[in-house]
Parts: sequence; C-alpha cells; structure tokens
Amino acid sequence: MTGRSLSTNQDLDPARLREVFGVFPSGVVAVAAEVDGVPVGLAASSFTSVSLDPPLVSFSVAGTSKTWPTLRRARHLGVTILADHHDRACRQLAGPVGHRFDGLQLTATEDGALTLDDGLARFDSTIHDEVEAGDHVIVLLRVHAIEHADTSQPLVFHRSGFGSISRIA
Ligand SMILES: Cc1cc2nc3c(=O)[nH]c(=O)nc-3n(C[C@H](O)[C@H](O)[C@H](O)COP(=O)(O)O)c2cc1C
Repeated sequence: MTGRSLSTNQDLDPARLREVFGVFPSGVVAVAAEVDGVPVGLAASSFTSVSLDPPLVSFSVAGTSKTWPTLRRARHLGVTILADHHDRACRQLAGPVGHRFDGLQLTATEDGALTLDDGLARFDSTIHDEVEAGDHVIVLLRVHAIEHADTSQPLVFHRSGFGSISRIA
C-alpha cells in the first residue's frame, strides 16, 4: 500500500485534538431554559440529530460545565439552531454567565424551555438520557415540539471561527 501513513504513535494532546476536530464544520445551537425563574444556557456545536422515532437529538457537554448541573434540572430544555447573524450572540452564550442572554429576544414555554426568537429552528425538549463519554456527557434530548423559520442561513463553526454557507450545490 502506498500513500501517507497514519502513525498511531502520536501525542494526542487536547490542543492538537481540538485543532483537528475543528476541521469538521458544524452548526451551533443554544441550549437554554428558565430554572427558578432565571435564564440558564450555553452555546454548543456538538448538536446532532439522532432519531426520528422517537424524535431525538443530542449534544455533548463538558464534565467541567458549571451550567449543566443547573440546566439539567429544568423541566424542559429549549434548543435553538443559530443563524449566521448570531456570531456575537454565540460568543455571548458561551461567555460570562450573568450576561449570556443580554439583548437577546427570547421566548419561554410554560415548562421553561427557552429559545431565541430569531433562530433558524427551535425545539422544545426533555432529557431522554445522559451517557458519560470521556470528559463529556452525551445528552440525548426527546423532542416535543419544533418550529422552523427557514428565513436565513445557519451559523457555521469551523476552525474556531464563524462563517456561513455560501453555496450548497
Ligand atoms: C462555538 C462554540 C461551541 C461550543 N460548543 C460546546 C459544546 O458542544 N459543548 C460544551 O460543553 N461546550 C461548548 N461550548 C462552550 C460553552 O458554550 C460554555 O462556554 C462552556 O460550557 C463553559 O460555560 P459553563 O461552565 O457555564 O458551562 C462552545 C462554545 C462555543 C463558542
């Protein structure tokens, strides 16, 4: 066999892994809820659709997250697929906890699922399962309601930067 070899004898340090994982482009979601009357949430690029029947989606949250222990107490969780104009909102949603929702237009359901009004799509969900996976927890969410605006393009996260899709053939 010819070609470039893939050596198993490499140092898989976190910085290098983050760099290489970042080659894979993804969208970004906001996972949020009102807990004890206070908006709680974070930005996550690990969102994936999982199952149609039952309807399931997932995201992974770091075991070190200070937000997740509070957020997981919510009765329902809102998931918003961020649009390409949400780059600043996204950094804010990942930033200092007290300012994550500053200036954002939000709607909460009676069950506390919190979503951004101008997102590309929104889900009302509950936790279906949590699976420990290394230094993260894979959170499986059961979807109860969906809304799809379809008016703008998704925010794309790639190599630690934000962009948008210019053309899909
Ligand atoms: C573009 C982007 C994507 C992110 N994706 C994830 C993710 O998938 N999982 C995660 O745990 N944190 C992710 N984060 C970090 C969280 O938004 C947040 O900053 C982190 O959880 C620390 O805050 P906390 O301690 O309040 O949870 C992402 C941040 C950014 C800017």
